Amino acid sequence: MEITRVSDSIFWIKNKNRILATVNLTPGTSVYGERLIKHGNKEYREWNPNRSKIAAAIYKGYKNIEIHSGSSVLYLGASTGTTVSHVSDIIGEKGVVYAVEISEEVGIPLVLLAEKRKNIFPIIYDAAKLEDKKNDIEKVDFIYQDIAQKNQIEIFIRNANLFLKSNGRGAIAIKARSIDVLKNPNEIIYESIKILEKRFKIEGSVRLDPFQKDHAIIFVSNKR
Ligand SMILES: C[S@@+](CC[C@H](N)C(=O)[O-])C[C@H]1O[C@@H](n2cnc3c(N)ncnc32)[C@H](O)[C@@H]1O
Repeated sequence: MEITRVSDSIFWIKNKNRILATVNLTPGTSVYGERLIKHGNKEYREWNPNRSKIAAAIYKGYKNIEIHSGSSVLYLGASTGTTVSHVSDIIGEKGVVYAVEISEEVGIPLVLLAEKRKNIFPIIYDAAKLEDKKNDIEKVDFIYQDIAQKNQIEIFIRNANLFLKSNGRGAIAIKARSIDVLKNPNEIIYESIKILEKRFKIEGSVRLDPFQKDHAIIFVSNKR
């Protein structure tokens, strides 16, 4: 088995096939049925690109995921915590991830996950109204948003204005069909970049097909 680094806390594991993985913060526990792989004194968790858009971006060749050990992350659209759990692995015990999910029902597994992983701070609330939670969320190094809403870019910019450090970075997953079902996804992604570049420096963008159909992630950094 050969292990190579994508970044300080994300790895490729090559055995028969190459798989992406993070180091399990809670060894022995799988979160969504993903494979656990022991090597040396570490346990890795397979990071599935069909279940997680950040993993899909890495499979598509994007390397500069600026989430590191000790990072603070605001995660909008946490769902049950699949990708949040890998962010939790990456940032480790010294990091924090504020995981925002609007649905109380979907948020139940997320809250249970946070009981086991102390660096996850679940917030069951609307990401469009986080002004109300200003006292609970510190300024963060990274904002990731995956909410598949028509006004997703507006929500992302509002939260960056509220919570992103001046040298902070971010990424927004764009589901083209949530913005306009009739338009060509490439056109929607291009238009999204045009809006975002008025507020941010664009660090890169990646189409996530075939892992996530008609999706892209746009990576940004705060303009200083
Ligand atoms: C595509 S899923 C997210 C999947 C998750 N990011 C992952 O990779 O594990 C989108 C989630 O965003 C949530 N959502 C939609 N609108 C929201 C909002 N305004 N505020 C917070 N969460 C929202 C939905 O309830 C849903 O759980």
